[in-house]
Amino acid sequence: MPAYRAPRGTRDLLPTETPAWTRLERLAADLAARYGYQRIETPLFELTDVFERGIGEVTDVVEKELFRLAPRTEDGESWALRPEPTAGIVRAYVQHGMQTWPQPVKLTQTGPMFRYDRPQAGRYRQFWQFDVEAIGDPGPAVDAEIVELATRFFRDAGLADVEVSLNSIGDPACRPAYLEALIAYFQGHADALPPTERARLARNPLRLLDSKDPAMADLNAAAPRITDHLCEACAAHFAAVQAHLTALGVRFRIEPGLVRGLDYYTRTAFEFYVVGREGQQQAIGGGGRYDGLVELLGGRPTPGIGFGIGLDRVLLALAAAGIASDGGAPSPVAVVVGADPDDTTARLVIATDLRAAGIAARAELSRRKLGKQLEAAARDGAHFAVIVGDELADGEVQLRDLPAGTQKAVPLADLGREVARSHGAHHHGDGSGG
Ligand code: HAM
Repeated sequence: MPAYRAPRGTRDLLPTETPAWTRLERLAADLAARYGYQRIETPLFELTDVFERGIGEVTDVVEKELFRLAPRTEDGESWALRPEPTAGIVRAYVQHGMQTWPQPVKLTQTGPMFRYDRPQAGRYRQFWQFDVEAIGDPGPAVDAEIVELATRFFRDAGLADVEVSLNSIGDPACRPAYLEALIAYFQGHADALPPTERARLARNPLRLLDSKDPAMADLNAAAPRITDHLCEACAAHFAAVQAHLTALGVRFRIEPGLVRGLDYYTRTAFEFYVVGREGQQQAIGGGGRYDGLVELLGGRPTPGIGFGIGLDRVLLALAAAGIASDGGAPSPVAVVVGADPDDTTARLVIATDLRAAGIAARAELSRRKLGKQLEAAARDGAHFAVIVGDELADGEVQLRDLPAGTQKAVPLADLGREVARSHGAHHHGDGSGG
């Protein structure tokens, strides 16, 4: 047993695993750019207030899962690690006066989030999200555009079977009447409520609907549904979102019980599930509209919508589906070896010059014999061995094409160009250049 291990609920991403991550991060960045989202980076921690106000004080995320940082100063500020990016991004939108920019402001971010949850497969204390936010557009068209973007991400990542669950959770006009109906319903079943849920009933009845307590499943299934209580404006908005999704060919399932776990949502709400993995009760992504959040965090009333995709869960689903990713160490194009095992200087200088010319090169820095150096170069999968020998005095080295078994003298001054030219000719179009 090693003395130190990564904290519970966190993982090291080893070089065997990072290629799969890099692929998803690139896909996220490419798609976001194609859809007009610009990258924003916000701090990994914020004033606790930002999360308490933004996400809501009576939510699991804030009540149970917030990583609060121990205060280090007397100035009374309290901070927490971000459990999600939306509140911080909206804080930045307000702080930097983005309401004066052309609307909507379309922002994207991919990075680690922190929730002090009970760790299990697919639930971590540090996890990664690909997030997009479109702030300043009331929809409904942008709602469909965002959901379609998420489905394209899953498809391009290699997950063929992702289901979209869709709902509308109303707005401040229609929700109060619904909440009354909901409270009356749960009060009628007060005896069946677990104590924590009973305590929440008065403070945040909507949260009972996304309770993780199994004792709530039957009660929630029979609870009044927000979709039966939508005001005219919300109902029209919801119908238009569906019509846009249908026009885009995005299939979805109306899920009247879907309310999401964060308080800032209004109207459109959605979650993504991998078909066949529903048993895990784990969404691989979710999001929705938050038309009150900008104002809540001190800005002018401004609508917004976005999603967060859990990259850890996407990778688990890909692995479960047997979709392999290109792991393994990358092969150098050239390995610089030497007849004089002790002359590491010449080998290092030549490899450095090759790298400066843009070529992936490794210098053999061990002092083993030339034969062993060449064997290692071949094992690395290198295309060339650059052999440094007596000709170095005349400004030349031997360039050996390892797979072809051919060799020729090349002036040092031409080496970079020659390696790039021959490597490019051999590897034309296989995309694995050096
Ligand atoms: P969320 O549903 O709380 O939404 O999280 C989004 C996704 O992050 C989840 O669907 C899941 O895939 C992943 N996730 C959440 N918690 C964990 C965890 N402990 N371990 C692994 N993965 C996890 C949000 O965070 C909102 N900010 C989404 C959004 C953006 N809404 C509007 N804009």
